[in-house]
Amino acid sequence: MEIIDLKTLKIEANKEIDNTADLKSLDDIDKKYLGKKGELTRILRSLQILPKEKRANMGKAANEVKNVLKQKIEIKRKEIGKDVIIADKERIDATRPGKAPIQGHLHILTQTRREVEEIFRSMGFEVAEGPEVENEWYNFDALNIPKNHPARDVWDTFWLKSAKERLLLRTHTSPVQIHYMETHKPPLRIIVPGNVFRHEATDQRHEFQLFQVEGLMVDKDISVPNFKAIVGEFFRRFFNKNMGFRLRPDFFPFTEPSFDIGMTCLICEGKGCQLCKGSGFLEVAGAGMVHPNVFKASGVDPKKWKGWAFGFGLDRLAMMKYKINDVRLFRSGDMRFLNQF
Ligand code: PHE
Repeated sequence: MEIIDLKTLKIEANKEIDNTADLKSLDDIDKKYLGKKGELTRILRSLQILPKEKRANMGKAANEVKNVLKQKIEIKRKEIGKDVIIADKERIDATRPGKAPIQGHLHILTQTRREVEEIFRSMGFEVAEGPEVENEWYNFDALNIPKNHPARDVWDTFWLKSAKERLLLRTHTSPVQIHYMETHKPPLRIIVPGNVFRHEATDQRHEFQLFQVEGLMVDKDISVPNFKAIVGEFFRRFFNKNMGFRLRPDFFPFTEPSFDIGMTCLICEGKGCQLCKGSGFLEVAGAGMVHPNVFKASGVDPKKWKGWAFGFGLDRLAMMKYKINDVRLFRSGDMRFLNQF
């Protein structure tokens, strides 16, 4: 054995340690050089057969190599170990059940709107829409509500700051009657779902924004019984049962005669509760026979055509169907409420 051999051994071992990437082969290298029957161990053992003067030098050199290799192997072992721990942390268990993404759903008012549309569509009604921002002509004048008419006070509302003409957030969907009749010739049947806005103190039954569904039917032989038949059929289909409802005389400048539609309060089943103010009925729509002035304002001959119109509060219909006792819940954004539907 020569120092030369020891140097080769050291170079060899170093190379092998550098090239390993896993603990198993590092252990093998450890064994191969430093183990009981390892190459370096063998060299150290064979020192005794060397002559004395060579033995000291050789022994010192061999021990040095042994320590260097031992240290190097230890460092390498820690390095690989670190990788193993990180890999363990980053391990992806593909068999674990995944996190399902939260899936949204349609708002209860949208669901209700679609149900209403579906029922009227099946009765031959078309679904029309109109702008949420109106001018005074469409929201008032054309609907037989001239300037200074007291009915304007009821619908005093959100006015927009606009340079040319006075614009407002529409207070009802009735202006769409005018828009539609300007561009379509009777006979016609439409419903108009949409948001409306009112300067209103809010309570259990009132909101400053609500959803309405306007209805308009114009034909030659239209009368109140015809209106009652359609509304009755709508109630039957929407509530899935024969619903009691009542018509009471009311006043709207754009209908003559006018009435409001009250239905049995379904929160208390007609017994009387806080929502229906103990009456057992809830007003869900205003309605009436189209006023001749409305026909004139939209270019329809009132001598030839007759019609009825209604304006349902969709919020209230949903309240009755789903037994919701406060209208403010709809737009509260409270997921505990919304997720129930
Ligand atoms: N536009 C009326 C309201 O908002 C309701 C209505 C519509 C009344 C159609 C008669 C006819 O209160």
